[in-house]
Amino acid sequence: MLRICDRDGYNHPMTDPDQRLLDPEPKPDDRLDQTLRPQKLSDLIGQDQVKENLAILIAAAKQRGEALDHVLFYGPPGLGKTTLSHVLANEMDVNIKVTSGPAIERAGDLAAILTNLRAGDILFIDEIHRLGRAVEEVLYPAMEDFALDIVIGKGPSARSIRLKLPRFSVIGATTRLALMTAPLRARFGAVYRLDYYEQSAIRTIVRRATGILGVKAEESGVSEIARRARGTPRIALRLLRRVRDFAQVRGDGVITPEMACGALDLLQVDPLGLDDVDRRVLKTIIEKYNGGPVGLNTIGASIGEEPETIMDVVEPYLLQLGFLDRTPQGRVATRLAYEHLGLTYPDDAPQPRLL
Ligand SMILES: Nc1ncnc2c1ncn2[C@@H]1O[C@H](COP(=O)(O)OP(=O)(O)OP(=O)(O)O)[C@@H](O)[C@H]1O
Ligand SMILES: [Mg+2]
Repeated sequence: MLRICDRDGYNHPMTDPDQRLLDPEPKPDDRLDQTLRPQKLSDLIGQDQVKENLAILIAAAKQRGEALDHVLFYGPPGLGKTTLSHVLANEMDVNIKVTSGPAIERAGDLAAILTNLRAGDILFIDEIHRLGRAVEEVLYPAMEDFALDIVIGKGPSARSIRLKLPRFSVIGATTRLALMTAPLRARFGAVYRLDYYEQSAIRTIVRRATGILGVKAEESGVSEIARRARGTPRIALRLLRRVRDFAQVRGDGVITPEMACGALDLLQVDPLGLDDVDRRVLKTIIEKYNGGPVGLNTIGASIGEEPETIMDVVEPYLLQLGFLDRTPQGRVATRLAYEHLGLTYPDDAPQPRLL
């Protein structure tokens, strides 16, 4: 089964808000996401170093009249991996086919996708760390030699033929670089890590979105949303939508700091952007396991969340804030975490041996 479609179509159903073919009636929030998504490199805010590198990559490929080199984006969810892939396709003015690791079940699925590509096309593979081994083996020669090895027949009469593919580009995206195999990683000529955004960049993203949405907002209202968005554009835009609702229902529609605080407090997003799940993770480590060390699976089981969600979504931000340490024995809550939750840090807390 071929599970792809073109530029405006399919994205992965679980992780991407843009899927439209699968959901013929997009939810209002999805439509908004589409409107707010930057289309060109110049619309992108923040990530200056990645942007500069991409600008060079694009210009060089265009000057030589070649396809882009294979590009890999990695980093926590919601920072713009999918957005950047579409921006690259727009800037190169080429077609982008979108698929994801779990959607390509068999080697034959990938072969079908590859043989339908045209020269210069971009094949975007989301969650690339979830590709199966057999599928990956088809991808290696395709990326390196632009060739597809096909075995015809069975048993002693089987023979292998090599089909030539047009020069295309793979853009891979993953939240889990460590789960990608070394040979696959090695085939990407350009690898970029997306990091949490500076607060000033998030403020600009929120301000731009208020302009597009036609919402009136005071500068300090915008700042309040940005402060609690944990450096993540997706979260900033989601909080903006909820604050907009709140301001419309409880106020006169203008996003003032009072409206922003009221809405965000009601959503239980605290001044550092921690939500209920983040706080439960910290409280579990502190209250049930004496501050740690404790393994992710145990934490997940205690609070009824998937360990993967904790690893992808919760942990990176807590590490960035310095609320959590990773040790060989498990996760440890730091003094900062105790203080943030208003708890007393025990004097006899073990000093963690960091990884
Ligand atoms: N640099 C940016 N400037 C403005 N908006 C951005 C930027 N980066 C991302 N966004 C917005 O944030 C949202 C999330 O981005 P995107 O879907 O590209 O993240 P992602 O890294 O692919 O996440 P995931 O890992 O969950 O797939 C998008 O709706 C996009 O509009
Ligand atoms: Mg994505």
